[in-house]
Amino acid sequence: MSGVVRALLLAGVAAAASACGGSSDEVAAEQAALVEQGRQIFRFDTFGDEAQWTDALRLHEVIEAAVDPLTALSVGLKVDADALPPQVVDGIRNGSVDLQSRLGTTLALLKLDAVVGVRGTVETVGGVDRLQRVGITCALCHSTVDDSFARGIGKRLNGWPNRDLNPGAIIALPPALDAATTAVLNSWGKGRFDPGHNVDGLDKPVVIPPAYGLAGIGRITYTGDGSEIAYWSRYVAVVEMGGLGSFTEPRLDLSVTHGNVELVGSKLPALQAYQLSLEAPAAPAGSFDAAVAARGKLVFEAAGRCATCHSGPHFTDANQRLHPSADSMAEPESPSYASRSATRLYRTSPLRGVWQHPPYFHDGSAATLDDVVARYDARLALGLTAAQRADLVQHLKSL
Ligand code: HEC
Ligand code: HEC
Repeated sequence: MSGVVRALLLAGVAAAASACGGSSDEVAAEQAALVEQGRQIFRFDTFGDEAQWTDALRLHEVIEAAVDPLTALSVGLKVDADALPPQVVDGIRNGSVDLQSRLGTTLALLKLDAVVGVRGTVETVGGVDRLQRVGITCALCHSTVDDSFARGIGKRLNGWPNRDLNPGAIIALPPALDAATTAVLNSWGKGRFDPGHNVDGLDKPVVIPPAYGLAGIGRITYTGDGSEIAYWSRYVAVVEMGGLGSFTEPRLDLSVTHGNVELVGSKLPALQAYQLSLEAPAAPAGSFDAAVAARGKLVFEAAGRCATCHSGPHFTDANQRLHPSADSMAEPESPSYASRSATRLYRTSPLRGVWQHPPYFHDGSAATLDDVVARYDARLALGLTAAQRADLVQHLKSL
């Protein structure tokens, strides 16, 4: 039985158990265990992708030779303060000693499992730390930290997109890559990644989206390629991260297999259950004006016509339909990102927690929610007044 089928059955069992008053406690406990398992996978599982990052690209050699902790922070890598020993945390807190000497080496951080989304195997040979293997996890792009100790160092914010991370610059580090590839990867910039580049050779990075707030939404990715998270998780784990396993997509005429073991499939139900448990973060108190937002809701539903597509509890019609490129207010592009996808269409983006993750649209071409509203107003000739636009922005900030 496939793992995904098992998760669906489990959900069915939960519903049945509560319907007939059965042991819902047991089912709840099993569900909680699945979510916890998924949390560990999301944070720490590389699916054996060391084969790509270590054996093929030799990224470990670059990290060992040239990436000190400040360099790591500068390309947007985050440090999990909970993984640091108390004396280091205290030192950072009172700011007495410089960060560099407090953090020690990147290898020391990897030994502590303190670099979010990066896993290293460090062995001490003759008193010297050597990085033997390195791999990446989902948390690299889909988690950040709250900066509570210092910039880039704090408590994990799970599912929050790391918009400081420059994945292209990191992937471009290994010397094994040719100059043309390196140039493309370095051009993407922070918070952006093209998950199709290594498949179709095209170059069109998209903004890393949140992995939270997806429960109840039956279309995954900007282009709605999958009906559930597990679909895309398998894609990324195998095709992008280089995890050991297979991904097959007839719509893209794509079939990729790494290795001769399957380290991805059995983990998908837990990985999916965990992501479904991640709720979009509520807008911080004081970050919007509630009375103005209430007026903005009316604009959203009437004059702005937003609710015709951003409908229902998640502010998306994704469960009903997808949209042609013309419905996207991103910058016109050729070929469009959608044209490279399995559906060739766009999903109406869910808007819960939208305050949290500027820039907006798949290409990140709207820097703020004000820009988003201004663009809709102009392109759709909505004729909103300045007051209506301001109200609408406050509403978006409240979602
Ligand atoms: C190198 C950065 C990177 C890594 C690592 C990564 N992702 Fe993503 N992820 C992205 C980007 C970019 C997209 C947007 C692609 C799209 O929508 O077309 C995305 C999209 C998603 C989505 C869709 C969100 C939505 O709104 O529908 C989910 C879910 C997701 N990733 C989960 C994962 C999981 C699980 C892993 C680990 C197996 C993972 N990602 C690893 C960059 C990454
Ligand atoms: C015809 C359907 C449609 C209408 C009407 C519509 N949207 Fe959208 N919206 C979309 C689609 C599709 C996307 C994804 C576009 C992309 O990423 O290229 C989107 C994306 C967005 C985003 C970006 C979210 C993110 O995560 O980047 C915001 C914000 C947004 N819309 C707000 C609005 C507002 C405000 C209105 C009304 C003024 C509105 N939308 C009207 C379909 C629609």
